[in-house]
Amino acid sequence: MRTPVTLITGANGEIGHGLIHRLTEFGNTSIISLDLNPLSPALASKVTRHIMGSILDEQLLDRILVEYEIDHVYHLAALLSTRSEFAPMMAHRVNVEGTIAMLEFAQRQGESHGRPVLFLYPSSIAVYGMPSLEAKNRVGKVKEEEFLHPTTMYGCNKLYCEQIGNYYSRHYKQLAAEPQSGKIDFRCIRFPGLISAFTVPSGGTSDFAPEMLHAAAQNQPYACFVRPDSRIPFMTMPDSIDALLKLAQAPREQLTRTVYNIGAFNPSAAEIREIILRAFPQAEITTQVDAKRQGIIDSWPMDVDDSAARNDWGFAPHYDLQLAFEEYLIPNIRKRYL
Ligand code: SER
Repeated sequence: MRTPVTLITGANGEIGHGLIHRLTEFGNTSIISLDLNPLSPALASKVTRHIMGSILDEQLLDRILVEYEIDHVYHLAALLSTRSEFAPMMAHRVNVEGTIAMLEFAQRQGESHGRPVLFLYPSSIAVYGMPSLEAKNRVGKVKEEEFLHPTTMYGCNKLYCEQIGNYYSRHYKQLAAEPQSGKIDFRCIRFPGLISAFTVPSGGTSDFAPEMLHAAAQNQPYACFVRPDSRIPFMTMPDSIDALLKLAQAPREQLTRTVYNIGAFNPSAAEIREIILRAFPQAEITTQVDAKRQGIIDSWPMDVDDSAARNDWGFAPHYDLQLAFEEYLIPNIRKRYL
């Protein structure tokens, strides 16, 4: 049997690291990775080929199209929410134009080899925009269709690309004489904030949690940029990778939607600090609110309703708050900074 080739964009990012490790655990996946940067040495030996370049480089995508038959695309490349506010036009180029370029790429790939290309797309709780802190606290868990009024460029970009992915998957060129849709099987997860023991994020707004933890483990002081009562959903990196792979493997007919919320736990910044201090009592964690970034966190929901993901494809995170820190984060982070 042919080995399906998997293309991963933004492969050197946080999700890319976790995903490449997991996909290659059993050694039978052929991966082409694409990133602006070289792949970190821990990953380089695991992929079939790493291509250093941009998703906006049409000629590069054309060359990949000619050279490989790709069945799965994990389109992870993006500018996160904080960085996008400093460079909104660049965010639009990378997050929107880059995503459309990848959807076109997948469409053409599907047309040429005749099988639907599975397209996995990470979206985010940033697509939500709670009208006020009072509403955020009152509403609690939000459903996929609610409060879709993002205040950030990144949130707008992700929300639009969710729609455009659905368009390519189900309605592409719907007026053409020959049906053209169905060449892409677009599936999307709205991730909460992610916390990894092995990598640190850059340019996100949920970064206060992983930053607090990684600073404490290295005995460095950290000033948290949001109020202690700030609350958004989080998840461990292994659970987020599991979810991506589980959604990728789900039989198409079981999926009632293209976009799914998932969540695992939703501690306040104060609760995260307490847990970290129990493990690293010497840690110096203070608060220095950045009113603007706080505004973004206040606009994100305090929790998500992920019952559709649980019902349709059996999403079930392994780590709750306590296990996440006790079993995954603290032990691995201690080893990492020994
Ligand atoms: N966690 C990301 C960020 O903070 C959102 O997906 O930008």
